[in-house]
Amino acid sequence: MENKSRRNFLKIASHALGGTLAAGIAVPVVGLAVHPWMKETVFGTEDFVAIGTLEDYPVGVPKKITITSSKMDAWNVFDGLVMGSVWVVRTGDNSLRVFSVNCPHLGCGVDWGEDVKKFLCPCHEGVFDINGQKLSGPSPRDMYSYETKIENKTILLNYKRMV
Ligand code: FES
Repeated sequence: MENKSRRNFLKIASHALGGTLAAGIAVPVVGLAVHPWMKETVFGTEDFVAIGTLEDYPVGVPKKITITSSKMDAWNVFDGLVMGSVWVVRTGDNSLRVFSVNCPHLGCGVDWGEDVKKFLCPCHEGVFDINGQKLSGPSPRDMYSYETKIENKTILLNYKRMV
């Protein structure tokens, strides 16, 4: 009788130990398999992105630059992905404006006309001054201006793709 209860105890104890060990292995394996679907895929700049220093931009001369960032999915990080372009206009010793290259009318690429010192949209003849203000054309508003800040001489841009 005593042997039988000892056998039962050992049987229950070995099942409990086996179950615990199996759970210890199964939980990380299941977590690893499920992880990619639970993780949010991130596109573009999540925060401010560095676009150089003020010395990179001469005062009063708009400069078009390409914004790159990283994309991260489940297991991979892709660096240097092109996100879009912006016009950077240094307006003074310690000030600048950054505009979307996309026209606020229907999204065409706006160019800088050096000869007329204005931003020109080739699609419907939209015209904007160096401050991005609408001068003429069908655009309902001025050029989109991005938020920027300068930290330790580095210009930081809060970039979002505008269409
Ligand atoms: S898209 Fe620029 S004026 Fe129409």
